[in-house]
Amino acid sequence: MGSAMKCEMISIHNLKKCFGDNVVLKDISLQVGKGSVVAMIGPSGSGKSTLLRCINLLTIPDAGIVNVGGQSITFDGKNTTLPKARDLAKFRSKTGMVFQHFNLFPHMTVRQNVMEGMVTVLKTPKHEARIAADALLQRVGLSDRADAYPSMLSGGQKQRVAIARALAMKPDVMLFDEATSALDPELVGEVLNVIRSLASDGMTMILVTHEIAFAREVADQVIFMRDGVVVESGPPALVIDNPEKEATRSFLSRFKNSGQ
Ligand SMILES: Nc1ncnc2c1ncn2[C@@H]1O[C@H](COP(=O)(O)OP(=O)(O)OP(=O)(O)O)[C@@H](O)[C@H]1O
Ligand SMILES: [Mg+2]
Repeated sequence: MGSAMKCEMISIHNLKKCFGDNVVLKDISLQVGKGSVVAMIGPSGSGKSTLLRCINLLTIPDAGIVNVGGQSITFDGKNTTLPKARDLAKFRSKTGMVFQHFNLFPHMTVRQNVMEGMVTVLKTPKHEARIAADALLQRVGLSDRADAYPSMLSGGQKQRVAIARALAMKPDVMLFDEATSALDPELVGEVLNVIRSLASDGMTMILVTHEIAFAREVADQVIFMRDGVVVESGPPALVIDNPEKEATRSFLSRFKNSGQ
């Protein structure tokens, strides 16, 4: 492999991952086109986070092929030799990841948090990093908080800083793992607005989310996972509004019952 596939930003083939006897990803294949937005839904323990982590190799797959932005790494069973640390770092830098819990540096201001990776990893000169950081803070609606410390921010503001910080590394792809799950309901909207604006700017994204209405609105493709398998995938009008599989229907009915 190694050559880019036409218009695919992410391409995964026959991905497998076990933790001991627990087979967490069974045989996952999926394609994400450049600029498209994929929402991944499914019950707890179905393997959504593990799949995201395998895409940027925070978790090392047992087998399969992971291709991001034309660079591909093949894992073949137990004797996989890992890529060298430098290649791994380069591969990881293609994806920005935003987690449920914002891991901002508490001793740095908002601006310094956004500048940090640019200065230390990308070796951007400080004055340029500062300009770029301020532009990103404007983009996530936090220009007025650049000199604040994380402890002075609301959860929604912290999460927007985390998004700006990930964008600062100029990733090809953004991965969101339940980025709004830890937020108070009134703060969810401001983070979804930022994600929505990234989508309309053409950022390729995978969102693990329980916000079914948001997934329907923003995603080109919805993936329903259960027990380490992609049960069903396709446009929201099919997977969310008109699911084929009983498992998908039963999962979605929970959200309808809870008023979402
Ligand atoms: N580091 C690990 N070591 C051992 N088992 C793990 C590890 N990470 C995940 N698992 C197991 O893998 C399975 C899938 O977990 P994963 O976190 O991917 O699920 P998920 O779909 O993201 O669930 P949730 O909606 O609760 O976040 C679970 O059975 C989990 O216990
Ligand atoms: Mg998870």
